[in-house]
Amino acid sequence: MHEEHADQAYNEAIQHGQYSERIKGLRGKYDHIRILWEDLITAFYLRPHLETIVRKKESAQEGLRLYDLGCGTGDGYDLLSKLPGRTKLGEHDTRLIPQELLEHYKGVDLNIELLKEGENVFGHYDHVNFCKGDFYNGLPLEEGERPYDLYFTSYGTLSHSSDEELEKLFMDIARHGRNGSLIMGDWIGRFSYEWQNLWTENFQERTHMEYKINYLYDESERDQIEVSSFPMRLMTPQEVSEIVDRAAEKTGIDLEIIRFFDRSLFVGRHIETGTYNGNPQPIRAMVNSLHEPGLRTYFPDLKFNFIPRKGFSWQNRMLKDLADCWNILLDYTMALMKFSDHGSNAMLPEPPLTEFQALERAFDVMRQTVEVSKGLFGDTRADLIESQLGFALRSLEMNMQRGMGLGHGLVALIRVSK
Ligand SMILES: C[S@@+](CC[C@H](N)C(=O)[O-])C[C@H]1O[C@@H](n2cnc3c(N)ncnc32)[C@H](O)[C@@H]1O
Repeated sequence: MHEEHADQAYNEAIQHGQYSERIKGLRGKYDHIRILWEDLITAFYLRPHLETIVRKKESAQEGLRLYDLGCGTGDGYDLLSKLPGRTKLGEHDTRLIPQELLEHYKGVDLNIELLKEGENVFGHYDHVNFCKGDFYNGLPLEEGERPYDLYFTSYGTLSHSSDEELEKLFMDIARHGRNGSLIMGDWIGRFSYEWQNLWTENFQERTHMEYKINYLYDESERDQIEVSSFPMRLMTPQEVSEIVDRAAEKTGIDLEIIRFFDRSLFVGRHIETGTYNGNPQPIRAMVNSLHEPGLRTYFPDLKFNFIPRKGFSWQNRMLKDLADCWNILLDYTMALMKFSDHGSNAMLPEPPLTEFQALERAFDVMRQTVEVSKGLFGDTRADLIESQLGFALRSLEMNMQRGMGLGHGLVALIRVSK
C-alpha cells in the first residue's frame, strides 16, 4: 500500500511543476541549495572512493557501470557524470568520469512520469537506460546482468523501504556486486531540526514520519492545499548499521560501512514549512538568495534561531554549536562589509577568537573575499561576497556534522568486500 501513497504524492508534485522543472535557483526542486550544497556534499564524500575505482577501470581498460535506484528523472546521472576532475584549474581535467569510460548507467524507478522525463533529457546517450522497477522486492535485475561499480541512491530514497525490504535489498546488492563495489545509501535523518516535534528517545516508538512534499508551494498556498503524504523511515546510523550487518551476516559477504554523513542540517526543505517544527525559518530561501547572481540579500534574516528541545542533550549541543558559529560568521561578515564601505582595508576588523577550526577558516575566507572585492568588476556584494558567504556557511555545516542523523539526509557509503 505504501508505494501507492508515495507514487500519488510524487505525481502531485510533478503536476505542480516545480518538482521536475528547472525554474530558477531561488526555489523549486533544482534551487541553488540542491545544486551547490546538497549535490556537492554528496559528491564530496563519494568522489575519492569513486576515483579509486575510475583509476583502476582506466588502467584495466574496462568500462564503469552505475546503478541508480529510485532514479526519478535521472538526477543521479547528471550528478555522477558531472563530478569534477582531480585538479581545480587543470584545463583538460574537467570530469572525473570521462564519457568514454562510462559503459552503462541504469536508472530504475517506480514512477513512469519521472522515468519519461529522464528519458527525454538523457535518453539520447547510448549508455543510459531507464526502466521501471520496484526495489521493495529486492534489487531489480535482468537475467545475467553484470555487476555494477556503484549502487547509488539519493535524497532519502531508501527511507521509502521497510527494514525487511532494506535487508533484502542489501543482500541482493551484496550478492550481485563485485569485490570493491560501492553502495551509497540515502535516508531521512531521525534528528533533523526540521522535524524536531518528531524526535523521540525510544526509536521503536516512532520509526516513520508522514512526509509531505508541501515545500514546493508558496507559504500562502501551503495551508490551503491538501497534499498527499507517505511514510518515510527516520534513520540513525545505528539503525542503518544493524540492517547492513544483518544483510552481511545472512549472505556471508562483508559490507563495510566506510562512513556516514549528514546533509542539510539547517537548510533542508522543511526548515521553512513548520509542518513538523513550530519554529519555521526561511533559511533555505535566504541562502538561495545569497547564491543568486545579481541579487542582494538582507543578512539579518539569515540568522538561525535555534530553540533546543528538552531531554535531547547531545542533539541540542551539536545544533547549538552550529547555530552559534553560523550567526557569529554572519556578524563578522557584516562587520567586515561595514568597515570596507567606510574605511580602508587596513582597518578591517579582526575576527573573534574561536575554538572551532571550521569557523576560523570561514572567517579567513570572508576577510580575504571582502579585501579582494574592492576594485573588481560588477556587483561584488551580490556576486562575490554573498556567494562566498554561502560557501562559508556550507563549509561550517559540512565540517561540524558527524553523520549522526542530525541532517535532513543521512547518507552511508558502503563497500562490498568479497
Ligand atoms: C526522494 S526521491 C529521489 C529521486 C531522485 N533520485 C532525485 O535525486 O531527486 C525517491 C524516488 O524513489 C522512487 N521510489 C520510491 N519507492 C520506490 C520503489 N519501491 N522502487 C523504485 N523506485 C521507488 C520514487 O518514485 C522517487 O522517484
